[in-house]
Amino acid sequence: MKGVLLSGGTGSRLRPITHTGPKQLVPVANKPVLEYAIEDFKDAGITEIGVVLGNKGRDEIQELLGDGSEYGVDITYIVQGNPLGLAHAAGCARDFVDGDDFVMYLGDNILKEGITDLVESFRVGDYGAGIALQEVDNPQQFGIADVDDDGTVTELVEKPDDPPTNLALIGMYVFSADVFDAIERLEPSWRGELEITDAIQLLLEDGHDIDSHVVTGWWKDTGKPEDILEANRLVLEETELTREGSIAAGAQTDGRIGLAESAEIEDGAVVRGPVSIAEGTTVKEGAYVGPYTSIGPDSTIEDAHIENSVVIGESEITASGRIVDSLLGRNANVQSADELLPEGRRLVVGENSQLRL
Ligand code: TTP
Repeated sequence: MKGVLLSGGTGSRLRPITHTGPKQLVPVANKPVLEYAIEDFKDAGITEIGVVLGNKGRDEIQELLGDGSEYGVDITYIVQGNPLGLAHAAGCARDFVDGDDFVMYLGDNILKEGITDLVESFRVGDYGAGIALQEVDNPQQFGIADVDDDGTVTELVEKPDDPPTNLALIGMYVFSADVFDAIERLEPSWRGELEITDAIQLLLEDGHDIDSHVVTGWWKDTGKPEDILEANRLVLEETELTREGSIAAGAQTDGRIGLAESAEIEDGAVVRGPVSIAEGTTVKEGAYVGPYTSIGPDSTIEDAHIENSVVIGESEITASGRIVDSLLGRNANVQSADELLPEGRRLVVGENSQLRL
């Protein structure tokens, strides 16, 4: 079995962060989202991985993942270019897949329990596809599957007014190579994309059995800023955090703190975990870093209070005051204007930024 990791797309819901880079490289607990997927492939015994690239951030993604050897996998890059839909992205991987079964993983998704159970469930039968499902409270807003007692899918409906179940499709699929013939027969949907649910529907109509696996652990699509914060919270809650950097005697720390080797918490700083602080970052006097915060590399936090937030890195945050529920892009700085006249907030804000003052 092979792996196909989708790393194209537009990422419009994550602007302005995605003006300068692909969303799959946004860090969650100081690790790019894409790396969680690579680890899940490896845990499921899948080491041949095709990474589908869009137009944005191709070089950065290749720089991070390389040939995969650092992760113990073998990576092939496949260029999709324009985001013409998930089924189009899968279709681009046809030569790479070369007749095998494959798992298709959306590169901006994080799944607590990984993909091993989904893969095992698919393997025991003779299925055209296997889909991951999760119970949701608002099935009217999702692609919904109806399944029989064995978990074999009987019907797929997109955003139904009258949902047959509350089992929503999440962005994780296993396919046999039969899916490629289905993809070739697809027409673009109303939004102009080749839809993966339409391809699965065609497989059903062609008489293939479709397996399903209900995911009980959390699953997060990190497509929007608030999703990044939630994924960061969920991951910090349960990953092991190691302290390698230095904590001064006069600093106040409690809870679980991940501190990279060259990171420092200085006298007079307060850090309350779970928190992750990356290499080269210093938390200085008067700063408070509160629970569920990740501070990326080469940053300084001084006087500011920051909580439930993600700072991507290379930032100076030195304004006194509370920053909560925030996502700060690389090299974003928040400094005090207290001593400047005329009094007021001073902003240099990029396109599509969101400020709540
Ligand atoms: P989406 O989040 O559905 O699409 P998007 O990246 O265009 O985001 P937005 O709606 O905010 O503009 O994509 C899910 C994943 O699949 C994501 O990792 C990007 C990837 N993808 C591709 O690789 N190719 C595609 O054609 C599409 C639509 C998505």
